Amino acid sequence: MGKIVVITGASRGIGYALTSAFLAQGHQVVALSRNTKPLEKFAGKSCHALSLDLTKEVAFPELFAFLKKEFGRVDILIHNAGLLINKPFESLNSAEIEQIYRVNVFGPMALTRVLLPLMDHTAHVVSISSMGGVNGTAKFPGLSAYSSSKGALTIWSEVMAEEYKDRGPKFNTLAIGAVQTEMLAEAFPGYEAPLTPEEMAAYILEFALKGHRIFNGKTLPASQSTP
Ligand SMILES: NC(=O)c1ccc[n+]([C@@H]2O[C@H](COP(=O)([O-])OP(=O)(O)OC[C@H]3O[C@@H](n4cnc5c(N)ncnc54)[C@H](OP(=O)(O)O)[C@@H]3O)[C@@H](O)[C@H]2O)c1
Repeated sequence: MGKIVVITGASRGIGYALTSAFLAQGHQVVALSRNTKPLEKFAGKSCHALSLDLTKEVAFPELFAFLKKEFGRVDILIHNAGLLINKPFESLNSAEIEQIYRVNVFGPMALTRVLLPLMDHTAHVVSISSMGGVNGTAKFPGLSAYSSSKGALTIWSEVMAEEYKDRGPKFNTLAIGAVQTEMLAEAFPGYEAPLTPEEMAAYILEFALKGHRIFNGKTLPASQSTP
């Protein structure tokens, strides 16, 4: 039976490729991002594209109401949306740091809180972190806010797994390496990543569908190289 899959950051990059991959397997995808134009391509294919700004929590109850009415449950929630600003620490202002944390940490936390009533112990919450958000890995100048926010997301997910292990969904994190998306091109101009969004999406899809039978509270590296 098809799963009910909620994906954030669906308008481009890995999230777009993930949406396409889940739809191709016959799942119902609720695809979230501010820009829904690119998702029009999937209209009529079990794709429910909704415009959502992760920094605007007031809109989350409306999403909950939609999901409850349409499906009554969520099987997979993928926190894929991300914001990266590559700037030396001294040039980063507080508003930029806050925006990064809003998209990468506070948004996923708030969205999870709102959707938890729709997720039982068979559900899987997958957070997409970064290799730079893991202790002891290679770090890159300019990514102090971004990488630290991914570290926060990672630890949050590990704590959630513990807190909900008896009654709620499983929580795991994929700390991914370089994938050739617009985010990477903007952050590291000229760098060529070894993976396409489609290749990474295929891996995330398999993990989202099956990984929670084996793992809970884990942070798994999914990387050939960094950045
Ligand atoms: N590409 C890499 O090499 C790489 C490496 C490590 C980790 N990652 C992580 O992998 C994930 C996907 O990365 P990507 O490279 O595919 O990124 P991307 O191409 O920049 O796409 C980011 C997505 O996040 C959404 N987003 C940004 N701000 C948002 C907001 N305020 N509200 C809702 N959605 C928002 C964007 O949609 P809208 O603008 O339409 O809202 C977009 O769909 C991110 O979490 C990223 O940090 C990527």
